[in-house]
Amino acid sequence: MCGIVGYIGDRKTTDVLLKGLQRLEYRGYDSAGISTMDGDKLSVIKCKGKVSDLTTLLEKEPLNGNMGIGHTRWATHGFPNDINAHPHLSSTGIFTLIHNGIIENYYSIRKFLEEKGVAFTSETDTEVLVQFIEYYYKKNKSSFEEAVRSALKRVIGAYGILVMCSDEPGKMIAARLGSPLVLGLGNNEYFVASDASPIIEYTKNIVYLDEGEMAVISRNSYEVRNISENHIVDKDVEKVDFSLEQIEKGGYPHFMLKEIFEQASTVCEASRGRIDSNSGEIKLGGIRDYLSRIIDAKQVIITACGTSWHAALIGSFVIEELVNIPVKVEYASEFRYRDTPVDHRTLVIAVSQSGETADTLAAVRKAKERGALTLGIVNVVGSTIARETECGVYIHAGPEIGVASTKAFTSQVTVLNQIALLIAQTLKINQVKVKEVIKEFSLLNEKIQETLKLSDKIKGIAKDFAHANNFLYLGRGYQFPVALEGALKLKEISYIHAEGYPAAEMKHGPIALIDENMPVVFMVTKQGFLKIMSNIQEVFARRGKIIILTSVDDASYGDYSNHVVQVPDTHHCLSSIINTIPLQLLAYYIAVERGCNVDQPRNLAKSVTVE
Ligand code: G6P
Repeated sequence: MCGIVGYIGDRKTTDVLLKGLQRLEYRGYDSAGISTMDGDKLSVIKCKGKVSDLTTLLEKEPLNGNMGIGHTRWATHGFPNDINAHPHLSSTGIFTLIHNGIIENYYSIRKFLEEKGVAFTSETDTEVLVQFIEYYYKKNKSSFEEAVRSALKRVIGAYGILVMCSDEPGKMIAARLGSPLVLGLGNNEYFVASDASPIIEYTKNIVYLDEGEMAVISRNSYEVRNISENHIVDKDVEKVDFSLEQIEKGGYPHFMLKEIFEQASTVCEASRGRIDSNSGEIKLGGIRDYLSRIIDAKQVIITACGTSWHAALIGSFVIEELVNIPVKVEYASEFRYRDTPVDHRTLVIAVSQSGETADTLAAVRKAKERGALTLGIVNVVGSTIARETECGVYIHAGPEIGVASTKAFTSQVTVLNQIALLIAQTLKINQVKVKEVIKEFSLLNEKIQETLKLSDKIKGIAKDFAHANNFLYLGRGYQFPVALEGALKLKEISYIHAEGYPAAEMKHGPIALIDENMPVVFMVTKQGFLKIMSNIQEVFARRGKIIILTSVDDASYGDYSNHVVQVPDTHHCLSSIINTIPLQLLAYYIAVERGCNVDQPRNLAKSVTVE
């Protein structure tokens, strides 16, 4: 979703901003722009398209100045075009502003301002905000800071903003409600961004702005205040824990392929220090102090969006199987508005790679309001969900840049398994099964490496099916969420319509779609083997093209399948970790074959910070 970067210091501002915007490209966007302050002169350049298009514009018309703001826009209000791109200037050109989020009461503010004679040039809610700031600036003859505060106190919605004012050059204001912002502290220079990736090559010292906070940043100092009360807030300076190499492609053609291959170590990272190799004891420091409340839970609700929701579904199967507690899996966007019974004996687990997904965050807040214990399974250290949940387990997968989530998924499933195992160990139930899963954990890494060796074979299969218009993914039990995730990966990056279904449910609808043009991917494991073999026959009888992904060696596959991909066998609780990898590769190679932009698929955003 929208990316924000800001800079004050001696470096060439446009270079820092453009580089920062490139680092934020992964979030997903459709236009880009920057504004610089040179003396007291504000300039803006922006366009529809990519940061490279903006760079070309700047080469023709360079901007100077030792402070500036830059933005990548993911359209919400108004088409993706040059005019709606950020930054937006106020009518008199005194203020320039970039914004991530949605101003929900923009329409009434716009009408109010129009009645006062303010003319708008764009369709955006963002322009409404910058005009609103100018309105207070003129009306109250206030300072830059007071004008921003007055406007923000009256807007409803979500924002992460950066504003500059030509009447007070050398000063920049950052404010946050609902959309993350981090401040990077350099040596006589400051950076602001919507996440740490544009900052880490300059400094590891970071201040996270919290909800309802505003930072006034000048060349030599910064001050953070609470927007509503105007109190100074003392902020901790934290160290970012990832390196530049981690956010670069490292020789791979795409981040997605790099991240698929990183699973050879990320699943292991998610287990490091958490499974005692001698005793088999599970140790999760982030939830240790809450264990008595966790085991006291009468129900578990796991809430998430997108790929994380699929991991959540697998987590629900494992927790129900190992712990015997009822588990519901809720789309965060639905859960936040539904009247689901939640009380202090409910454990709400929020799964989120970014830790910033607006709906998941809202679901966490609702669960807390109702007295539930909240537990975050998050990748990005210091993200809002990580900080707002009472306890949690980081997945430690490292930065995930490809919009389509891959390594985060397998690490989320890993951690959900560990949580189930820990609860079962604490309750001393299902100990035989617990031991079996723990034993398999120790073999998992090798099996993932084996699975990754299938890459070339899958590339070949991808060539055969790259021109398909539809795809069906079918699995039973633990393979059903794998089917959902396989289908999601394909549609996200190749734009092929794909659906995942429980294999037996196929006959209640999708079977009508099957003909000689329909590729159907089956996930076959020991669990329910004979049943799924019947489902394969049903597709074969209707001339569907069959791809079998299986951990069971069976000589008969060749009789009715077009391709067989043999994967290592593992415990069914962990099988989704292995079986999803070939599906990630299949989606990847099909998308490459179709010439799609794999890392930045159209319309999608990495971190969805609006509802
Ligand atoms: C977006 C991303 C998906 C991701 C989902 C949830 O839609 O494109 O890859 O699964 O958000 O994100 P989260 O960060 O909460 O896991």
